[in-house]
Amino acid sequence: PAARLVLDAAFSIAPVPRRLFGSFVEHMGRCVYTGIYEPGHPSADDQGLRTDVLELTREIGPTVVRYPGGNFVSNYRWEDGVGPQQDRPRRLDLAWHSVETNQFGLHEFDDWAKKAGTEVMMAVNLGTRGLQEACDLLEYTNHPGGTYWSDRRIANGAAEPFNYKLWCLGNEMDGPWQVGHKTPVEYGRLANETGKAMRLIDSEIELVACGSSNSRMPTFGAWEDTVLELCYDTVDYVSCHAYYEERDDDPLSFLASAVNMDYFIDSVVATADAVKARGRHQKTLNLSFDEWNVWYQSRFNGDGPKPRTAEWRANPRLIEDEYTVTDAVVVGTLLNSLLRHGDRVTIANQAQLVNVIGLLRSEEGGEAWKQTIAHPFEQVRRLATGQIIQVVATSDRYDSPAYTDVPLVDAAATYDAESGRAALFVANRSLTENAALEVDLRGLGSTRVLTATTLHAGAGQDRNTTNLEDHQAINPVSFDDHVVDSGQLKANLPALSWTVFELD
Ligand code: AHR
Repeated sequence: PAARLVLDAAFSIAPVPRRLFGSFVEHMGRCVYTGIYEPGHPSADDQGLRTDVLELTREIGPTVVRYPGGNFVSNYRWEDGVGPQQDRPRRLDLAWHSVETNQFGLHEFDDWAKKAGTEVMMAVNLGTRGLQEACDLLEYTNHPGGTYWSDRRIANGAAEPFNYKLWCLGNEMDGPWQVGHKTPVEYGRLANETGKAMRLIDSEIELVACGSSNSRMPTFGAWEDTVLELCYDTVDYVSCHAYYEERDDDPLSFLASAVNMDYFIDSVVATADAVKARGRHQKTLNLSFDEWNVWYQSRFNGDGPKPRTAEWRANPRLIEDEYTVTDAVVVGTLLNSLLRHGDRVTIANQAQLVNVIGLLRSEEGGEAWKQTIAHPFEQVRRLATGQIIQVVATSDRYDSPAYTDVPLVDAAATYDAESGRAALFVANRSLTENAALEVDLRGLGSTRVLTATTLHAGAGQDRNTTNLEDHQAINPVSFDDHVVDSGQLKANLPALSWTVFELD
């Protein structure tokens, strides 16, 4: 296959949103316990936080981390997780059929987030709880002192407020699996009233309303329309969630997952803008794509997230997907889709950070390592700076069972006027053939490739190779099959690859 791209610094889409490279820590499986927190682990610090996982987290560098769920939040009492650890109750977590020990809670997460150097995105329970408990939590985290909840925070060791800016009004409330699932009218009213009350406590917060759990939901579109009709002026963002996997031995459809993400985003933008027009609203709503990833959901449970085990246990192994080369290429294209929509998708959270469909994996008492998908995430987070620029592309295309007219080469790019550097992110979706890439760089003024790496199956590996046995097996490697001549970059992209150029 062949592709030709034209890049021009003048074709700016938007500044790269700082919060586009978020991740997610849920009390689920081993994300918290034996993931980020494991007192007794050789690397644990005095708070029981795993410093090996912290170190890898800092390298990957998520800019914002959503907490504490997920489905978990919809039956969570946040007060269980504060105060002396020995006094905290053990509870049933209905979402994941687990026992929650509450040894890790708000203060531990706040300390972890500070050590990780990341912003916190907090979620409130609108499943089994409501407006009052959301206000109590916000008073606890953001009010300086002199009131019941803020003084309890101070008594629990945090003299300064946590000052969280970003709040999710519940989680996946459109999903029948959600504890306290709501109709769009029930949820839209609740989100509106909860958001209004929360703003009376702190007028600076930003609020995310639940959109659809995926674009195949029967209520997709209608849900956003009704919910936003009821809470448009109160909220700042509407959420999207999407997980992709290879089904029916059909890798070409799986590799086209970003086509669905593009469609999903465009559809939600159109719906939000229709509500804006109909209601004569002034402000424009943005999107928070606050759960996205590859997740082999069909291996876990065909019809919605539910653990299989009948036994109630603390931190069971749940959805510890081992990611392959193919998954890393798909994750690269999902990042490209988010970047291409960075004018409207201004928050995004890869789900989740560790063990549970994780960027990272860690073993109890053992090692921690990066999965294949951590690499594109880290690269885009590091190199996408300045402005997102439109990539004018012509590429050979293919049809797959689930999609038609899919570009074989998928691309996104940024240009940073301050440094004069550009970054180009390209995936070759062909499973078998190299792609001949030509990029017109004249509009960038770039004359050389500063660095270039590619991630693909090397010698002795195939598209299913993971980092489970050899934690370094799949890494981006230096790529030199390219030349720049008279403002044209020519490159020979390996089959099934994710390639990143830094241009100067
Ligand atoms: O990330 C795993 C789960 O996927 C989350 O708890 C839920 O919000 C979604 O269904």
